[in-house]
Amino acid sequence: MRIMKRELIDSYDRVAKKLRISVTDKCNMRCGYCMPKDNTKWFDTTEVLSFEEIIRLTSIFANLGVEKIRITGGEPLVRPSIEDLIMSIRRIDDIQSIGLTTNGLLFLEKAKSLKSSGLDSVNISLDSFKENRFKMITGVNGLDKVISSIHKAKDVGLDVKLNTVVVRGWNDDEVVEFANFARHTGIIVRFIEFMPLDGTGIWRDDLVFSKMEMIEKIETDIGKVLPAAEQEMSTPAKLYSFSDGKGTLGFIPSVTEPFCSQCDRIRLTSDGRFLTCLFENPGYDIKTFLRKGASDEELARCLIQSMSMKQEGIASLIRINGLKPKLNLMHTIGG
Ligand code: GTP
Ligand code: 5AD
Ligand code: SF4
Repeated sequence: MRIMKRELIDSYDRVAKKLRISVTDKCNMRCGYCMPKDNTKWFDTTEVLSFEEIIRLTSIFANLGVEKIRITGGEPLVRPSIEDLIMSIRRIDDIQSIGLTTNGLLFLEKAKSLKSSGLDSVNISLDSFKENRFKMITGVNGLDKVISSIHKAKDVGLDVKLNTVVVRGWNDDEVVEFANFARHTGIIVRFIEFMPLDGTGIWRDDLVFSKMEMIEKIETDIGKVLPAAEQEMSTPAKLYSFSDGKGTLGFIPSVTEPFCSQCDRIRLTSDGRFLTCLFENPGYDIKTFLRKGASDEELARCLIQSMSMKQEGIASLIRINGLKPKLNLMHTIGG
């Protein structure tokens, strides 16, 4: 039975339009800014939502006004048959687009099947063009594979963007090379400030290489950048272009310029929690309610109620919880 159409709106009048679905907390990399190198404790398989459960919840979210889906992990492609999930989400009324955020290691072989299952776009993470450094940051070899994946994504007709987390002293010296990559390939490169969501507990504010610092480096080496005339709708990335029109860069300045007042996203974790904010912990245990036999209407009401309690954003969460709030681990929420 189709439930009545309503909105997910919070007390600051922000309406949720984008749902990020983390399909697994597992990953085949160990990026230093995200995960412990070893001793990672994964969610028990019985705790992880089945595809049927994800699809049911997604339909309820769609009825509550969600229009865009992003599949995340951990690494989403380590979950078998992800194409089946994408195909089912594609069939849900009112879902306008489906994106995927991946580290690119398993993407090459799956590019075609992902595209034909109905995927629209892919964001691929890459933090270094240097083989040794790639290994140091991610814990694995695979630079060539990731670069091939980026080109393959374009070849099969997916919209593709690159995500580069810039950490001071790790890869800030490659910002210019990444900007040149954007200029040569036409692929948007988005530079991301290091956020305090790391499983390793290494985050310090002096490791944050700010958007302004990145722009300074790029302008010194290549030339002036200006905010692009056309900005992507409701994304944390601010787009910039060069005066010669070659290449578009994005910046995701979560730390130095939080964008909470325009937030239109919500999250579903692989262990079935609803997060109204990236920094919310533990969030709302929608899975237990679902597995106890709640109806669609009851689940919808629970989501609406949780959404109404969404906090203002990063600043207010820190105000409430102190300077070190108990933060989520990035690989359990998918960014
Ligand atoms: P688009 O829909 O293409 O804009 O995707 P996206 O940029 O939202 O998603 P992606 O998974 O590529 O994430 C890129 C970076 O943005 C990651 O570091 C995410 O953690 C960060 N990010 C995504 N959504 C939010 C958000 O709501 N708040 C904050 N602070 N960061 C976010
Ligand atoms: N800060 C900022 N971005 C991060 N990502 C992972 N951990 C962090 C962090 N601590 C990025 C990944 C990927 C996206 C999902 O989030 O590189 O591009
Ligand atoms: Fe939205 Fe929370 Fe991120 Fe702010 S910190 S943009 S409110 S998810």
